[in-house]
Amino acid sequence: MLLKDRVAIITGGSRGMGRAIALRFAGEGCSSVIADVRDKEGERTVGEVKKKGKDAIYVHCDVTDSGQVKDMVARAIDKFGKVDIMVNCAGIGTKPTMLNDISEEEWDRVVDINMKGTFLCCQAIAPHMKENNSGNIINVVSLVALDASPNSIHYAASKAGALSVSRCIATALAPYNVRVNIIHPGMIRTDMSAVFAGPDVKDVDAFYTQMAKGVRLGRIGTTDDIASAALFLASEESSYITGDSIAVGGGGIQMGGGGPPPK
Ligand SMILES: NC(=O)c1ccc[n+]([C@@H]2O[C@H](COP(=O)([O-])OP(=O)(O)OC[C@H]3O[C@@H](n4cnc5c(N)ncnc54)[C@H](O)[C@@H]3O)[C@@H](O)[C@H]2O)c1
Repeated sequence: MLLKDRVAIITGGSRGMGRAIALRFAGEGCSSVIADVRDKEGERTVGEVKKKGKDAIYVHCDVTDSGQVKDMVARAIDKFGKVDIMVNCAGIGTKPTMLNDISEEEWDRVVDINMKGTFLCCQAIAPHMKENNSGNIINVVSLVALDASPNSIHYAASKAGALSVSRCIATALAPYNVRVNIIHPGMIRTDMSAVFAGPDVKDVDAFYTQMAKGVRLGRIGTTDDIASAALFLASEESSYITGDSIAVGGGGIQMGGGGPPPK
């Protein structure tokens, strides 16, 4: 088992990638604190982790609220006595919106959740991990952080900010043996990617088929693809890696897109 007796906080763990990561980690011996604002789905993830034989609790936590984030970390330590791993998966997507249609309110909401939320969670867990001289943080960002996206400037900027936050904190925490790494998902089949399609798209599967044409491997990703990368980064298999990124996008943006190469 790669994560025997470890404890992880997983923000955004109620559904999507966060849920898949919690379940994969449980199979590798890791208990979880599921932190999210979707309470019913969060309790369901907790039940699924327990079915795999590991302990878990759900904590309602809005990652934009520093008080709730601090409380979430305190409850995790109170319950399990330690936190080895934090996976910051909480985030929101945006429907396609052009430059002059992005409201100030929407800008603030997206940047608050995707960038400030990542910062607040790392900040809150840092003292505990520093004290333990051990820890592992994984921030789920996006391939769009590395690209220019004309119809989701607020989303792309929030993710580029989260990337910078991750690298800076990796540098700050390296002397304390705390690793911080980044996963850049490409298009992954979740509730959120249906938001990326926009409300006018009725056939989400057709949207995915279209998107897959821009991916070298010719398919949309799954939450299990992300869980595999998270497991690698959370385990000792990646013990000499920090401040770095893994793109899990089937050879999308990072290889110039353009779809599968001719056979
Ligand atoms: N799905 C994709 O194609 C894709 C691509 C690139 C990056 N991402 C990123 O991956 C991460 C996970 O996305 P997903 O596809 O699993 O989405 P998802 O919507 O299935 O899950 C995101 C979770 O975050 C939670 N959340 C939202 N706002 C929150 C807040 N303020 N406080 C706490 N929790 C909050 C949601 O309730 C939800 O459970 C996100 O950060 C997303 O931006 C997704």
